[in-house]
Amino acid sequence: MCGIVGYVGFRPAAEILLEGLRRLEYRGYDSAGIAVIDAGEISIRKKAGRVQELARLLEKHPVNGSLGIGHTRWATHGQPSDINSHPHVGGNGEVVVVHNGVIENYSILKSHLQTLGYVFRSSTDTEVAAHLIAHEFSELIKMGEDPESSNTAIQAVEAAIKQFKGTYGLGVLFRDIPDFLIAARLGSPLVIGMGQGEYFLASDAGPLAGHTQEVVYLSDHELVVLTSQGMQLHHRDTGKHAPDVQVLAQAESGSGLNGFEHYMLKEIFEQPETIENAMRGRLDEDEATAKFGGLNLTPQQLRRIDRIVLTGCGTSWHAGLVGEYLIEEFARIPTEVEYASELRYRNPPLSTSTMVFAITQSGETADTLAAMRECKRKGHPTLAICNVVGSTIAREADGGIFLHAGPEVGVASTKAFTSQVTVLTLLALYLGRLRNMSYPAGQRIISHLQAMPDAIRKTLECHDQIKDIAQRYCDYDNFLYLGRLYNFPVALEGALKLKEISYIHAEGYPAAEMKHGPIALVDERTPSVFIAPRGHIYPKVMSNLEEIKARKGPVIALACEGDAKLDQLADDVVYVPFVEEYLQPLVCSIPLQLLSYEIALLRGCNVDRPRNLAKSVTVE
Ligand code: M6R
Repeated sequence: MCGIVGYVGFRPAAEILLEGLRRLEYRGYDSAGIAVIDAGEISIRKKAGRVQELARLLEKHPVNGSLGIGHTRWATHGQPSDINSHPHVGGNGEVVVVHNGVIENYSILKSHLQTLGYVFRSSTDTEVAAHLIAHEFSELIKMGEDPESSNTAIQAVEAAIKQFKGTYGLGVLFRDIPDFLIAARLGSPLVIGMGQGEYFLASDAGPLAGHTQEVVYLSDHELVVLTSQGMQLHHRDTGKHAPDVQVLAQAESGSGLNGFEHYMLKEIFEQPETIENAMRGRLDEDEATAKFGGLNLTPQQLRRIDRIVLTGCGTSWHAGLVGEYLIEEFARIPTEVEYASELRYRNPPLSTSTMVFAITQSGETADTLAAMRECKRKGHPTLAICNVVGSTIAREADGGIFLHAGPEVGVASTKAFTSQVTVLTLLALYLGRLRNMSYPAGQRIISHLQAMPDAIRKTLECHDQIKDIAQRYCDYDNFLYLGRLYNFPVALEGALKLKEISYIHAEGYPAAEMKHGPIALVDERTPSVFIAPRGHIYPKVMSNLEEIKARKGPVIALACEGDAKLDQLADDVVYVPFVEEYLQPLVCSIPLQLLSYEIALLRGCNVDRPRNLAKSVTVE
């Protein structure tokens, strides 16, 4: 969470920083601010609320200068307010800082700095970083170092970050050192964009698009010094070294709204194409299997794998649950799904023949990254299923599979989920064909997969019907989402979507579990959304549905086309095309995404920027 930008060069910094913050707003939108230095004077503009509020402030009170840093905040320490907004100033205004991460030992450091006379204005952990850097700087000056030398500034930042416990992506400016920006990373991503006579800093490559394609990703414990004429990288352990310059692919198209009212709706409607992209070049019809370029494990190595752990958070964890069912059914490999936030601290017994997959849209989720590193440390082959190329998880994994879903901007994950499920289906097929799956079975799966983009197109036709259903149910305060087998994760995902963008309480359950407790919630004001397309336990799901109806619970059902029975039982039925059971999560998740979107709209919620959330959760 939180997005950082920086600029040093010859152009007006404020415009570049502001545009960069707009592109990083998905990382947090509690407040935004910039600091620009011109002729030895720091100008700060910051404001609680969206980047648009900052833009208004800058219109009234513009700033000049070609050196600056900026920040968009997801509050961790201190509520969203003007005063808690970044940038934060240290000492007597000689240092200014933006920060992404959490300085866990901030209260000890703060007490110490207060005893030295430093005055704190905000309740953030970041102000500690600003004052500590300023303090180290003034100590160096007392010892005779030059206050206008960049070496003094570098030493001050190094001395300060040595004292931090926690995570940081930092951008630091010194009032009296022109043409000079320092950034440092531990745990929070930073990327440098290299231009001609100008350099850019950002939390991800988004803000660099249109400025440069040459980038350098910072690693943990690296510090970079940027001037308009060049960059210098220092690693804590290995000292100065040459940058590993990478060339970004042309900015992915489609990052605008393309006529849709919201990113979430646009991304829901992109799914026929994104599912196709997830399969492109990966279906091997001759061998009746899937193929991947980047697993970096030979078929022999993969045959020796006797257990798989899938890990992730939120929606990615739900995709992992579908993956567990798929891999166990197709490849007969015991598979478990672990919350990354648990796995990182749990130390379960995993043998060296256990393969770990980190599932993540952003590739920056702090818990998923930590779980992946922990598994790598223990020697397990650790791969990523990831959307963002160049993200930390994508770079650190031993190998992996990209989703190729294009940028997902809406905070509620939609197309990434269906792409993750598609990739997991391909993976299960591939692992199955390395083991016992027959050639005809592989062929059947391929032909079912090839039909999916059209099935998704057809499913999206339910949008108008969903709008009517949303009108009838938008005032209810509690929902149950119920499904079995492959549709149990879909129930969890449907409930998560409703919660996060409409703020309605919703629970997902395996439909049969409902009678072990949640059924006590059922009454005329608690609708149940049944995910009930035809499958081998369809009659059992019908019994569960009757149990809800017997207690006067309203029922919205997802059913296969032509299912007349459900028409009589449920209050509302949304029909989806018939697909094989293992592909039902792909079609069934779509009406649920649309339902949460339409309900959230009717309740006046900010669909793309729901309260308290951020797209990329880079803190614990
Ligand atoms: O980027 P990741 O896939 O690692 O993100 C994991 C979760 O934070 C994410 O899926 C979250 O649950 C979504 N907002 C759900 O829509």
